[in-house]
Order: sequence, then structure tokens, then C-alpha cells
Amino acid sequence: MDRLYIFDTTLRDGEQVPGCQLNTVEKIEVAKTLESLGVDVIEAGFPVSSPGDFKSVVELSKAITWSTICALTRAVENDINVAAEALQYAKRKRIHTGIGTSEYHIKHKLNSNREEIIERAVSAVKHAKKYVEDVEFYAEDAGRTENEYLARVVEAVIKAGATVVNIPDTTGYCLPNEYAQKIKYLTENVSNIHKAVIATHCHNDLGMATANSIAGIMNGARQVEVTVNGIGERAGNTALEEVVMAIKSHKELGIETNINTKKIWETSKLVSTLMNMPVQPNKAIVGRNAFAHSSGIHQDGVLKHRENYEIIDPKEVGIDENSIVLTARSGRAALKHRLATLGIAEISQEQLDEVYQQFLLLADRKKSLSDSDILTLVGEREVVRKKITLDYLQVLCGKGVKQVATIGIDIAGEKFETTASGNGPVDASIKAVKDIIRRQMLIQEFLIQAITKGSDDVGKVHIQVEYNGKIYYGFAANTDIVTASVEAFIDAVNKFSV
Ligand code: KIV
Ligand code: ZN
Repeated sequence: MDRLYIFDTTLRDGEQVPGCQLNTVEKIEVAKTLESLGVDVIEAGFPVSSPGDFKSVVELSKAITWSTICALTRAVENDINVAAEALQYAKRKRIHTGIGTSEYHIKHKLNSNREEIIERAVSAVKHAKKYVEDVEFYAEDAGRTENEYLARVVEAVIKAGATVVNIPDTTGYCLPNEYAQKIKYLTENVSNIHKAVIATHCHNDLGMATANSIAGIMNGARQVEVTVNGIGERAGNTALEEVVMAIKSHKELGIETNINTKKIWETSKLVSTLMNMPVQPNKAIVGRNAFAHSSGIHQDGVLKHRENYEIIDPKEVGIDENSIVLTARSGRAALKHRLATLGIAEISQEQLDEVYQQFLLLADRKKSLSDSDILTLVGEREVVRKKITLDYLQVLCGKGVKQVATIGIDIAGEKFETTASGNGPVDASIKAVKDIIRRQMLIQEFLIQAITKGSDDVGKVHIQVEYNGKIYYGFAANTDIVTASVEAFIDAVNKFSV
């Protein structure tokens, strides 16, 4: 197996997106998660660009022990000096320097010519070499750079000491066969190419970032530059999870990465939450629907043999179970399976037929059915005596005031009350509940939906709470979304012992 190095630029190329900016503490959290995911190189920032970026590179250098920390520069001496200073505490460090090589960049951005660009590239690499052994060179807009000239640039920078040569498709312009050809051309026409690792860095403007990266890898690239969830400027960068799972799924490529794929899901969620960037539901690998089967034929097929309709076991990316969405197109097999996961395993064929008919009637009216709906259909909700109920809830919220919730709860006839503050009324209320029910619980999913669109609408809250390694689902509906949130949380907690 050949080793493919994963270079993550979520904190540099990804973080450039307006609205995705993180503070240093958040960056450290993401970097530590990337390190435990097994990322080889973490691009921590562009130190000369701002004091904030400089500080982040310093702090990440201190916090990370195994992954290499990389800092970006232009082919400018001062950028390189500042990057070297920011990297001083890194256990493993890399300077990533480079310059535009396409005719667009040479003429219309740098107002230069081909020979001068090679000189500037070489002197930048030589300067970076004074500080670190590991120097990566990027030929910006390599995707639109003529291959013959690109090969001259690459040969010159490797001679100057570059250990990695990055071939970015900066504008996401290339077709997979074109990008494949480019990498192949370099392997065949750069005499010293064996002295450096070739890196892909593909943007997704035409939706081909992953395809192009794989094409590059199949033609000799051994470092791939990616971001979690594919975040990045414009249409984004190559998604880490897509490349890693494509490589893992196609063993015949003979390539492996160091990624612990079971941590992909939690990493995706962390980045999406901290960067305020929701993941589209149908996103490959990490989208909410990536492993959800809704048609009856598919559900039945998956339940009979997972591989009938799934090329990846969801557990491989850290998802507990393939979430089968129940809709009007679902069959009896899917309904029976869901009932079993809800603890109702003993059900006769006759009962199942009866529940299934009711299920179809309800599913015709609702797009998809929740676990609470299913339990209501089998009459389970009435027989499960709720141990915990919400007696009252009072919240103080608004602009310029502390968000405080006072709550009264009844646990099997015993009354409890407490007050807590939090980051908003829902957070304060849930904290108050947690203060009373002292268990190690973690909210994994929290979704508020409106039924119609008016301000008098009923809010439906779906919640998933992790407790003792298991996920419990809770649901509630109320015109007051704070009350609905608390009731949904309590609904999940009530299922802990069911
Ligand atoms: O897309 C690009 O060309 C880049 C370089 C700075 C590596 O992000
Ligand atoms: Zn980029």
C-alpha cells in the first residue's frame, strides 16, 4: 500500500470564507480534532495577513504535537520571516510558499514575465529553507498553467530545496482527465520529481474537486489538500471525507491514509457548528441523508443485506446506524425494523398489518414519521407512564439582559425546581433541567421546525440525546419553542430506562 498524506486547510483556505472565521480557542479545538482524526499536515493560517492569524499559528504550534503545522506565505521574504517566527514552537513545521504561474497571474496580477517568476519562486524556496527543512511550493493557478512551463517551475523549485510541490487548480477549472494529464506530465518531464511529493489542491467551481484530486492521486500525487465538509471560498475545496472514503472504498488503488474514518462524522459536525456552515442534507458521506433510505424497495433491500444499497457501512464514518427514514413509500419491513429499535420486538403479523395501514394513512399526511409518531400508532405512548414531567417554566430573555430560566419538574411524584442561566433561553432552560437530572447527557441533534409560517405557529422540536453510548430521541410541539425544547429533552430523558 502506498501512503497518501492528508493536508488539511480547513483553518486557512476554509476559514477565508466570510462568516466562517474562528477565534483562537475554536481553532485549537478544530486542530486537535484534526490531529486525532489522523491528519498529517494542518495548514494553520497565513501569519503575515493579520495579527490574529499570526497568533493562531503560534497557539496551534504549541497545542499540536503529532501533525505537522504549516504556515502559508507569498513568495515574499517578509512573509516567510513572519511565518518562520509564528512556527517557532511547532514540533513539526512546514512553510508553504508560492506564486502564480498561469499567464493570467503572470501578466494581470503580478505584472511580470515567466523567467522572473521562476527566479522569485526559487529565491522564496531558498529563503524558506534557511528556517525549515520542510518547504512546500505552490504554483498558483497551475490548473490553467501550460504544462511545459509548469514543469520548468517545478524542476527549479525542487532543485532549490522544495520537499512538496503543490499543483493547485485554484479556479476549479480543470476536467479530471486534464488534471490527471498535468500530474502525469510532471512525473514524466521533471527530472528531479522523485525528490519531492506532488500535492493536489483542487477547488470545486465545476463540482469536480474530488474527481480531480482522485485523478491526480491515480497519476502519482501523494499529498491531497482538503477541507472538512469541502468548505472554502466560492464553491469550496476538495472535501476530506470524500477523498478519504473514495480511497478506502477502492482498495484496488493500493493507497492508504492515516485517517481514523470513525471520527469523520464528529469532525464534520464540529466544523459545521463552529463555522456556522450547515452541511447540505445530500452531501456525500456527511450529509444528513447520506445513509438514509426512504423508498420501500431500498429499505427492504438494505435490511436484507446492507451492501445491496450501501457502499459504505455508516459505522465506518462514525454513524451508529443507517437511519431509515419512514415515509409513505416505506414497506412493512422498515416499519418492523423501526419498531424493534424502539423496543417493540414482539409484534404479530396481524398487529403489524393493522399498524401498517394506520401508518400509511398518517404518512400520506406527513412527509416523514418520527419515532414518537410510530409509538403513538402502536399505542405505546399511553402505556409508558412518564416518570418526568414539566410542571412550569419561566424564562427571562431578550437583548441586554441575562438569559435565565426557572423550572419546576415532577419526577415520579417528587417536585424539584431550580434556576439556571445560559447562552439564550433554550440553553438556560436545558441547563436547568440538567441541574436537576444529573446524568452525563449530550445533545447530539436539535431541530426546531415550524408547521406553517405564521408567528402564531406551532414549533416542533426534534432532539437526540446521547446517554451511556446510546442515542435517545425526543419530540414535542408547542406554540412556545422554549417549552417545546424542554419537553422534547424530557421526552428523550424519559426513554433512558425504557
Ligand atoms: O487555491 C490556491 O491556489 C491556494 C494556494 C494559496 C495554495 O489556496
Ligand atoms: Zn486554495
